[in-house]
Amino acid sequence: MCGIVGYVGYRKASPLLLKGLKNLEYRGYDSAGIATCHAQSCIEVRKGIGKVEEIEKKLNFESLDGDMGIAHTRWATHGAVTDRNAHPHTDSTGKIAIVHNGIIENYGELKEELIEKGHEFRSETDSEVIAHLIEENIAYGFEDACMSAFNRLKGSYAILAIKEGEDKIIGIRKDSPLVVGIAEHGTFFASDIPSFLEWTKNVMYLYNYDIVIAGKEGIRVYNEGLEVSRPIDTVEWDIEQAKKGEFGHFMMKEISEQAETVMKAIKQDRAVVSAIVEEMKNAFGIFFVGCGSSYHASLAGSYFFSKEVKMHVNPVLASEFENYEHFLTDKTLVFAVSQSGETADVLEAVRVAKGRGSRVIGITNVLGSSLTMEGDASLLMHSGPEICVLSTKTYTSQVVLMNLLAHALVNRYEEYMADVKSLYLGIYNLTSRTMREHLEELAKELVEEEHIYLIGRGLQYATALEAALKIKEVSYIHAEAFAGGELKHGPLALIEEGTPVIAFTARDNCNKILSNMHEVKARGGWIVGVSAKESDLFDYWVKVPEAGALNPIVQIIPIQILAYELAVLRGVDPDKPRNLAKSVTVT
Ligand code: F6R
Repeated sequence: MCGIVGYVGYRKASPLLLKGLKNLEYRGYDSAGIATCHAQSCIEVRKGIGKVEEIEKKLNFESLDGDMGIAHTRWATHGAVTDRNAHPHTDSTGKIAIVHNGIIENYGELKEELIEKGHEFRSETDSEVIAHLIEENIAYGFEDACMSAFNRLKGSYAILAIKEGEDKIIGIRKDSPLVVGIAEHGTFFASDIPSFLEWTKNVMYLYNYDIVIAGKEGIRVYNEGLEVSRPIDTVEWDIEQAKKGEFGHFMMKEISEQAETVMKAIKQDRAVVSAIVEEMKNAFGIFFVGCGSSYHASLAGSYFFSKEVKMHVNPVLASEFENYEHFLTDKTLVFAVSQSGETADVLEAVRVAKGRGSRVIGITNVLGSSLTMEGDASLLMHSGPEICVLSTKTYTSQVVLMNLLAHALVNRYEEYMADVKSLYLGIYNLTSRTMREHLEELAKELVEEEHIYLIGRGLQYATALEAALKIKEVSYIHAEAFAGGELKHGPLALIEEGTPVIAFTARDNCNKILSNMHEVKARGGWIVGVSAKESDLFDYWVKVPEAGALNPIVQIIPIQILAYELAVLRGVDPDKPRNLAKSVTVT
């Protein structure tokens, strides 16, 4: 949930670290800090609570000297949001500093042991034990001390450590993301590529337990005590993609990119798609596993496979997947769906599946993520970096990919390509100024509401769930989705005069959802229709094209915009809603 960044090289570290932190802030934003030093000078640590920009004003990070440093932006797990609990943490002498992303599960026993040995702790975090463990063995040298400290840790971690008098950064990853960026003037470490994209596109992806020692003279990587080599790839992502440009927020920028990202998602290697399709044909049991929006895309996927292919796939929330363990065999195929490729619940599901001998295919946006390393194969979304905490463009890309697999299975690949391409203008128009103004008006109608309900059937039920998630997480208005048919089984009791209900309708199930709208209307509900055709039942109409199997794309975009406008009207930063983080690396 946190973001870490490190730099060692020939430039002053603090401005690079500060920029890196800002680019990583979507991973956590309750506190942040930087530690820098020259090989010959003392370590200086500055840290505090708040967003990076606020802390920077108070602490002037950029004035920190040194050509080497580590930095951290936090999303609290162990210990409250306080200055002391912010990273970096130091050992008792203040000569060793670390930043950590993940959870040290055995920190309680390690802390007790270290306190008995005389170490004084300053924070309530699990992470601080790492600095003290390194200190404990420092007599054997910085590298060996780090290696033996890392050996004692249980849990998930990406760690960077520096020490006064040493001109190197030592990093390790296990079940938490860490990538290395190789620039002409130095080496970067970061939880995610956008952090250093401005300086280099050359990236080294790391495996679990890789220990990286980087200094001005180069990099060494060790795994299980042996020196190993890791290839350096060039990423296709562009720095412009990681900037807001003309937009006020990343959320709106990313929503507006969807005409392009949907087109990029269909540009897949045919051989890879064919291989996956063959695996699907031969599988005995197929699961789609994801969290949040990725789960909603999986649910939409299950409808595609049922309708287009007559094939049963099981969409399962990743955090619930272990309950299905008994159905997994070496014939089962599991699709792990995750934008970040780092969601702990998804990775846990991957391990459960692999433990049973099942094949795992990742559907992800991030090459080099844990999912691409741990899965047997991957299908990449090619959406470019998604910085806003909310999934928008990557949700629609996931939907595109699942639909693509379904169509490929019934030999309608080319037809599907043509259908998607013909939707370009339709998607583009959905993000036009006119549409935004129309949705801003709707947001003004809804901004004071405490509850918004959403209904749909079939594919539109998956859209309703995703739409409810978008509204609630960014506007903090309670939004809840129901399958239209379920209304009469309880939720109708919630409808009274003026209760807003957003209804998604489509050609294939129009009559049934119209009946549901009548039920709502009869109780005084205020209906917003998201559909291609107008109806007398609508109090507000959001017109979208009728797109058949691609309806989940055209119907979610207006609600993404509505959620954004609600957030802005309610004074919420849409890129960083409270209590949330982009990559949820804890289970
Ligand atoms: C919602 C949202 C989250 C993510 C979920 C899974 O807008 O962003 O619900 O969809 O945390 O994240 P990934 O796809 O990275 O596994």
